[in-house]
Amino acid sequence: MTEFFQELYPGIEDSVLDQLDEWVAVYQGQEAIRHLFEVAASIDSMVIGERQILGQLRDAYDQCKDWGITGDNLRLAVDLAVQAAKAVYTHTRIGEKPISIASLAVQKLERLHTPKDARILLVGAGQTNALVAKFLIKHRFHNVRVFNRTLARAEDLSALFEHGSASPLSALASYREGFDVLIACTSAHEPVIRHGLYHDLLQGDQREKVVIDLSIPRNVEAAVPRDFPIQYVEIEGLRSLAKENLAFREKEVEHARTLLDEYTALFPAQYRQRRLERALQVIPDSVRAVKEKAVREVFKKELDSLDPSALALVERILGYMEKKCIGIPMKAAREAIL
Ligand SMILES: NC(=O)c1ccc[n+]([C@@H]2O[C@H](COP(=O)([O-])OP(=O)(O)OC[C@H]3O[C@@H](n4cnc5c(N)ncnc54)[C@H](OP(=O)(O)O)[C@@H]3O)[C@@H](O)[C@H]2O)c1
Repeated sequence: MTEFFQELYPGIEDSVLDQLDEWVAVYQGQEAIRHLFEVAASIDSMVIGERQILGQLRDAYDQCKDWGITGDNLRLAVDLAVQAAKAVYTHTRIGEKPISIASLAVQKLERLHTPKDARILLVGAGQTNALVAKFLIKHRFHNVRVFNRTLARAEDLSALFEHGSASPLSALASYREGFDVLIACTSAHEPVIRHGLYHDLLQGDQREKVVIDLSIPRNVEAAVPRDFPIQYVEIEGLRSLAKENLAFREKEVEHARTLLDEYTALFPAQYRQRRLERALQVIPDSVRAVKEKAVREVFKKELDSLDPSALALVERILGYMEKKCIGIPMKAAREAIL
């Protein structure tokens, strides 16, 4: 294993090599194929049933192909892994029921029938809210103002929306343009959405708002949902829903394994066939070379003495023979492995 990584990364540090045992799992033969299929179908990941793992696997393969470190065998294995993973997503319910907090938060907005042009305030522009933004866009919410301590990050995030705008977090207290939904997610240790600030944000608007707090500890002061008309969504509720959904996905894993058994069993025959095809690739050139030698060297004198119509006939016969001679071993070999 050490030699393998040294060959791949000649500059690899000794400290990394010393820890390879902890990070690297080594599989061989059918076991390796099975592992690849389980990774592709995302039943070997911390988050079961996440489709994006298949995309990541394909990207990794494409990158390695560009670097010239893959061959025909890996291509064959990855092609079948992609087919196997797609079958798992199509025929099991492993990818159903969202399990990320961000996705569940946006699903909650859908369940509350929030209009697509709702005015959404996104407070915080860290990783979690970036994911929330992704799901908001997927669900076609577009009217979003991002507030963040660092303005540049708010600007980056708001630029993703059709009607996005950005402000520094310090401007939230004086924001007077109204809102329908407020999603707070920062790493602040103290509440960011305090009673007084929320009161001022409302500008006397009495209508019920949706307030989602994804932060730990909470960003929305406890008195806010107590004193104002709010559909309040807390991270605890979303977390327990995520847990339930994960348990649902885990139940689908057995079903997925049965499908992967079938695909794993297909691989040896495909592999043998491909090896044979590669071996047989030399036949057309070899047969053609025999024909060329016959015409140019072995029977050259005799052919030179033929009249043009006889020569044309001989050439047609040789062309016919060439085609047939190429086909015979190919057909026989295919029949032998089926
Ligand atoms: N990662 C998860 O899977 C996950 C899931 C659910 C909930 N959460 C919770 O979500 C919150 C944010 O997590 P994250 O992963 O998005 O973190 P992150 O990527 O580190 O982003 C942190 C965000 O909080 C802001 N922030 C940090 N300290 C602040 C302060 N004192 N006042 C105001 N803003 C402050 C940062 O602003 P700057 O851009 O200016 O630094 C940034 O927008 C945490 O409470 C976390 O527990 C995380």
